[in-house]
Amino acid sequence: MSSPKTNGREPVYLKLANALEGMIANRSLRPGERVPSVRQFSRQQNVSVPTALQAYATLETRGLIEARPKSGFYVRARLSDLIREPRMTFPATPRSIQLGVDDPVASLLADHADKRLVPLGAALPSAELLPGVRLARIVAAIGRRLGAESVGYDVSPGHESLRRELSRRSLDWGCALHADDFIVTVGATEAVSLALRAVCKPGDTVAVESPTYFGLASMLRELQLKALPIPVHSATGMDLDVMERALRKTRVAACVVIANFHNPIGFVMPDENKRRLVELCARRDIPLIEDDTYADLQHEGPRPRSLKAFGDADSIVLCGSYSKKLAPGFRVGYIAAGRWQPRVKALKQASTLSGALLPALAVAEFLKNGGYDRYLRAIRQAYRQQVDKMREAVVESFPPGIGLSRPKGGFLLWCELPSNVDAIQLAQQARAAGISIAPGPMFSPVGEFTNFIRINCGYPWSPQIERAVGVLGHLVARMAGRNNERAKRRNSEPTMS
Ligand SMILES: Cc1ncc(COP(=O)(O)O)c(C=O)c1O
Repeated sequence: MSSPKTNGREPVYLKLANALEGMIANRSLRPGERVPSVRQFSRQQNVSVPTALQAYATLETRGLIEARPKSGFYVRARLSDLIREPRMTFPATPRSIQLGVDDPVASLLADHADKRLVPLGAALPSAELLPGVRLARIVAAIGRRLGAESVGYDVSPGHESLRRELSRRSLDWGCALHADDFIVTVGATEAVSLALRAVCKPGDTVAVESPTYFGLASMLRELQLKALPIPVHSATGMDLDVMERALRKTRVAACVVIANFHNPIGFVMPDENKRRLVELCARRDIPLIEDDTYADLQHEGPRPRSLKAFGDADSIVLCGSYSKKLAPGFRVGYIAAGRWQPRVKALKQASTLSGALLPALAVAEFLKNGGYDRYLRAIRQAYRQQVDKMREAVVESFPPGIGLSRPKGGFLLWCELPSNVDAIQLAQQARAAGISIAPGPMFSPVGEFTNFIRINCGYPWSPQIERAVGVLGHLVARMAGRNNERAKRRNSEPTMS
């Protein structure tokens, strides 16, 4: 633990309590473990006994430790540790499908922009966690340095300073990509869209995870591609046995996967599954498109490797973005398209000609000299704590029998509700109560997951969020109870037979 010196604003006991909370959140102190006695703690931290006691009292109030008679203080076992993972059911054989015309992306983003709604819907972190002020200063400094030049195009493939940073960082992803392997894009959205356009033609079928990020369904629809939804397990990702069977029956032109911190579930595909998926696709010469948007946001340990690290880098298209890590509005993403690179470059030039110079240079500068790694450590910890708090609050407020994902990174939570709760109705009721959530059917091209919701945990915990989770729990319980009553009434009605 770091030294408890006060920064002049925060009292010492609070600083100590926060540091201990951090250790509980990162599992250095585990549920059920004894924490040092108050006297020991006061000696260790060189503070008075009343200060140490006040720090422990604060942690008790936060529900993180408990006093046991004649035994001392222990880290409380959390209810959310006992909760099961969500269970999703799928048809035995996936079929390729034409996509409908709903556009959930627009409505969720509009709700996010509405400051009257508690933002548990769109997958966006709070601006207060992102380095907006530092980036604005960097933009200003670059503007001063470049003067009139700063309004220029960032001609494709994108400024070399950013591509060099991406190349350097690709070692961390398990790859060793060259600056020339990258094209800078308008977020991951453009990267995935370019990838699909480069490898597919209208009418083709694309294997996707089910559930998956709903923006992908919008893209497939607009590109007149069909989806082949492959079930995922909440802890390990795509069911590769089902995938293998499906590939025997259906001709697939590409496969799009979010292997690291999946949206909406948050799992990381284990290395052996990544390897098997890469081999499965390579054997059939199916281009594998990897959406690595949330990678870098692990809750602990090293960054998981990208799929591209597991096979022939030429056949795997890696897409990523700084939207969830630095600045969603800068629209800085990238693609490393392997053998499709020339085609992607031509498509990019035809559709957007170039990118914006200032945001690309600012991201490059932040990656190089802005303390990106230190900053990442801080937001990873913040996201982990926010997800933990949300899991605990949901378990306390929602009726029993729910399932919750255990995200390994990122800030999204996938929640299975009682089977008789309609997530779309719930989202409407929640919205009327001032809360935005993302209902499960958004994450299925065929409207499955009717009793699931995704919860955004990208905001620091606050009384407003705590209240919102309480209201959601109440709405879920009320809907489950009413639907139970209705079912009972229907069953007890006299029948004609
Ligand atoms: C998995 C995934 N891919 C891509 C995107 C879009 O990213 P960008 O803002 O970089 O276009 C999102 C945004 O939520 C996402 O969750």
